[in-house]
Amino acid sequence: SLEEVEPNFFILSPDSPLRETIQRAYRWYSPRFSPCDVPRFADVGSITEEWSVMRGIRDFLVARYRNLPEPPTHIMGFDARGFLLGPMISVELGVPFVLMRKAGKNPGILIESEPYQKEYKEKRAEAMTIRCGSIGKGSRVVLVDDVLATGGTALSGLQLVEASGATTIEFVAILGIKSLKGAQLSHSYGNGRFSKIPFFALVDESVLTEANCGDTAGYNGPRIIGYREALSRI
Ligand code: ADE
Ligand code: MG
Repeated sequence: SLEEVEPNFFILSPDSPLRETIQRAYRWYSPRFSPCDVPRFADVGSITEEWSVMRGIRDFLVARYRNLPEPPTHIMGFDARGFLLGPMISVELGVPFVLMRKAGKNPGILIESEPYQKEYKEKRAEAMTIRCGSIGKGSRVVLVDDVLATGGTALSGLQLVEASGATTIEFVAILGIKSLKGAQLSHSYGNGRFSKIPFFALVDESVLTEANCGDTAGYNGPRIIGYREALSRI
């Protein structure tokens, strides 16, 4: 069962077996061991490396969307980590998986979102694109990513679905970092035009406890070990 933590923002309830399964696998890294200066970098690799956790997530989401009175016609995922979850759900549901990518990466004629900022600031704001015609009038779309942080990419997804004449059924992520207010960003955007669209994170940041830290304690070496150096250490 689900818990509504903010209006139209849901997470699995604390006693959910899937929440426990995800918490057991999920690892986070401090800035010392992370690609970006976020306080706790949640490693989706710790989920993908546990195939039974992936299967649990897949089965839960497939059942959720298959049982809707009006099931989704498309799953749309965010570059890059949304590509891990989206296709395994779409093939089970028998619907297309649509790739949302940065402008320089997608072929064809593209619709581009407004630029957005991320939890880890990049040099300039980025925008997302989808190919014109990949979704359209009457499409019912589920948006998928691994993490909902500040919600910039999620809002881009909502814009692209809207500007295609389609409908977003739900935004779903494995982890929602509630304190970064990503659901609020979308729900308050543009006079509340997206305020009725449900956001669903399987777990929130409370699963990232000290016991889930993936840091190697007491390590003083370099974080990146080159090919030749690694070879010499075998
Ligand atoms: N993307 C944005 N914030 C993140 C975080 N804390 N961990 C992993 N991915 C993220
Ligand atoms: Mg991302």
